[in-house]
This record gives sequence, C-alpha cells and structure tokens, in this order.
Amino acid sequence: MTTPTVPLFLDCDTGVDDALALTYLLDVPHVDLVGIGTVSGNTDAATAAVNTAALLALCGRTVPVAVGAHDPIGGSYGGGAPHVHGANGIGGVDLPPGVAAAEDPAAELLVRLARDHAAGDRKLDVLAIGPLTNLAVALEAEPRLPELVGTLTIMGGAVWDAGNVSPTAEANVHNDAEAARRVLRAGFDLVLVPLDVTRQHRFDDADADRFTAAGDPLRLALGTMLRSYVDFYESVDHVRRAPLHDPLAAAVAAGEVEPTVRTTPLDVVVGGAEHGRTVPAADGPAVRVVVTADDRAADVIRERILHVGTVSSGSVGRDGVGR
Ligand code: BDR
Ligand code: CA
Repeated sequence: MTTPTVPLFLDCDTGVDDALALTYLLDVPHVDLVGIGTVSGNTDAATAAVNTAALLALCGRTVPVAVGAHDPIGGSYGGGAPHVHGANGIGGVDLPPGVAAAEDPAAELLVRLARDHAAGDRKLDVLAIGPLTNLAVALEAEPRLPELVGTLTIMGGAVWDAGNVSPTAEANVHNDAEAARRVLRAGFDLVLVPLDVTRQHRFDDADADRFTAAGDPLRLALGTMLRSYVDFYESVDHVRRAPLHDPLAAAVAAGEVEPTVRTTPLDVVVGGAEHGRTVPAADGPAVRVVVTADDRAADVIRERILHVGTVSSGSVGRDGVGR
C-alpha cells in the first residue's frame, strides 16, 4: 500500500535543528512541502527565511518561503539564541543565498494554502517548530483555521520534564506564550512534541562526521552546524549528544516514527516566574502529548539527511564555515 501524499506547511525559526528537520522533510517521498513560514525565535524571522531559502537552494528545491512575525504578540523579539544556534542561526555557517522570500507574510500564506487545500482532496497539515506567533496571527485572520487544516504538530513545551530556557519553560512556548495559549485553545487536531520526548533522541559527533564525510555543500554545512550544536549541549548536558527537537517533530508529523501519546488537558502559563510553562490543567484543552517515540527515530532522520538530493553549486568551504 502506498502512503498518501501529505501537503505540509512548515513554520520555523531556522535554527540548527530546524535546518536538520527541513532537510529530513525534503527527502520524505509522501510529504509535499507546499509552503514555509518563518518566525523570530532562534534568530529573527528575516534571517530564518534567508537560512531556509539557502538550504532549499542547496537541495535544488523550490518552496515558497514567507517571512512572518518579527515580534511576539504584545512584546518584542529578544535577540534569539546565538549561544545555541550561532549569530546567524545556523552555527555561523555561511551558505550561498537562495531565492528571495515570497511577498505574502507567513500567516497569509498559511491561510491561503489552508483554504486552497480544504477545497481540494486532502487538507493541509501544519508543522510548527518555532514560536507560535504566525499561527496566532493566522487564527485572527481566519478563525476557522482549525477546521480547514488537518493535523497541527508542534515542537514545543515541557510537560513533565524541566524546561530549557527556565526551570519550567521550553524556548518555543516561552518566546511567545500568549500565542501558544491561543493556539492550544483554538480547537486544532493537535499533537505536541515536547522536550520530554525530544531529549530522548539525539545526534552526536559520529553523525556530524557522517554528514561532513558525504562531502557535498549541504551535508558539509549540516555537519558543521551539528558540531557547534553538540558543543553547546555538552556545555549544558555534559554529554556530546544534541537533542533532535525539531527533526523528531518532523518525523512524527511525517508519520515515519511511531509515537506513544498521552492525551492531557494543558494550559500555558503567561507571565510570572513560570512564564511559558505548559502545565497539565483540568480545564485546559485536551492535547495529544508525545511521551516516547520509537528507538529508530535518529536512524530514520539520519538516513534521510544523508540521502536527500542536492545540487553541487555554491561556495561553502570544506569545513562549511563562513567564507
Ligand atoms: C526548540 O527551540 C529552538 O531553539 C529549537 O529550534 C527548537 O524548536 C527547542 O526548545
Ligand atoms: Ca526551531
């Protein structure tokens, strides 16, 4: 039996693990990536679009990339996470430029694609691997969005596990907690892939070595990014293994790894010491929270990244670092 094609919208803040997730998705035969929105998170939304377009170009792929919200709802962008993802969001790796971003803002592109696909054979699925600002903006423009789209998979939150930007909060939710709360309450068919599970699946130096050994510009760049990401995680986790936050969410969204899910009523704390916490709350909307994923996840993701087609133009150096 062949797997039906899934039209997918990706919302991201590219980002080292976003870059790995995007590359993985480009190799999944039944995923048709029809649009990408960017949002400020790991880096600002405009830089995330530049990074995304550059990666697409290295893979010889054309997907509309739309710049989304620079600032979170009711707040200001805090400057990203250069200590985790490098000053440019992708570990300081300098990539040849891709195609300029689409004219529509990300939320408009999402709404348009959701409507178009709802009128066709298969609803649009959505994968959000950055702060949820664009989705909240799209919901304001189109309150029926939860009915128009299929499944919304979100990398975000720390439900029973500790946070990564505060003792209780995960970065994507913390960066725009108000947006996360709105999206959780909006009635989507929602799957949450939190730190609880993404910390269980990791890449290490051997994975970086395999990417760089492939020798082409894309995988040289990814190997260099991954090594800087592993360096960061060594400084916080004291082990040279980096969690596959966004790639795991992508593999769940693509249906390539088997998740174990615990349906849990959840709320998002907005403000105060626990700002951005995703907390079980009896009166919150029921969310399918992924608690484990099968052990093959890292293998599945690695093999696709090693397999994806690339073009061999560009000026990334042998070490992949800024030229
Ligand atoms: C999430 O935050 C970002 O730093 C990563 O790209 C991932 O989406 C992990 O907390
Ligand atoms: Ca991300």
